[in-house]
Amino acid sequence: MLSCRKTPDAETRRHGDTEKSFSPRPRFPASRRLLCLLLTAYCLLLTSACRRDMQDQPKAKAFRENSFFRDGLSSRPLVPGTVPRGYLRADREFYFGKKSNAGTTAQPVPPGAATPVSTTGASAALYPDDVETFPFPITKEVLDRGQQRYDIFCSVCHGATGDGDGMIARRGFNKPLPASYHQDRLRQAPVGHFFDAMTNGWGAMPSYASQIPVEDRWKIIAYIRALQLSQMPAAQAAQTPSIKPGGQGVRAPGGKK
Ligand code: HEC
Repeated sequence: MLSCRKTPDAETRRHGDTEKSFSPRPRFPASRRLLCLLLTAYCLLLTSACRRDMQDQPKAKAFRENSFFRDGLSSRPLVPGTVPRGYLRADREFYFGKKSNAGTTAQPVPPGAATPVSTTGASAALYPDDVETFPFPITKEVLDRGQQRYDIFCSVCHGATGDGDGMIARRGFNKPLPASYHQDRLRQAPVGHFFDAMTNGWGAMPSYASQIPVEDRWKIIAYIRALQLSQMPAAQAAQTPSIKPGGQGVRAPGGKK
């Protein structure tokens, strides 16, 4: 422990001075000095504790627990009904490929030179909630874009003509094989079913929702319809209500492989 009491030094004693006359300064009681010292130390401590370096900020880190809120989460839950900017997906048919009211028929076809292809085949019954019409008219530009996106994202597994014999399938991703689009069930399936497979994945097939924007997904489906048409004998194509050759805005691709 510190002793703050002032003692006469050797020199003063030598001269025989009294203790009283020696002291040059007014004397402080030891307890008060100690108190002063402690107070100063305390203040110093206080001020140094207030200092924060830039790299040590009191912020909430994503996914890290936080004792500030009672539920232990640093992120606050969204107010129910919150819609982030640009995420209002009121058009259920466009964004989800689902009929806005299950059990009713799809919305009327928008007017335009190229009418959307509708599906009324037997397979539509298998997918009652999926829309049967494209949400926008199918033009050559739409098909070209669809072809380009299809070749990038789908052909690697489903093959350039949609037979399910893409390079990845040939190299081993074949249990099960990527579906061939040229089976009757898929020829007659509503367009919404293809949208569903791409958006949510299908069995062994992963979802492509994060890679392919909604509009491109529809364009890919338009191209798949063209592929289906290209592999179908004309007589059968004429009888397949989901794919009507000629005059429906869907052009057949380059021909059979
Ligand atoms: C990595 C390989 C792979 C890629 C890429 C891929 N698929 Fe598939 N797809 C599969 C496999 C495998 C199946 C069969 C899944 C099953 O039956 O479990 C399948 C099935 C399907 C089906 C059939 C659903 C049904 O009713 O049987 C559709 C439609 C489909 N894919 C569309 C697409 C489209 C469109 C793309 C491009 C955006 C795509 N796929 C890309 C592997 C792939």
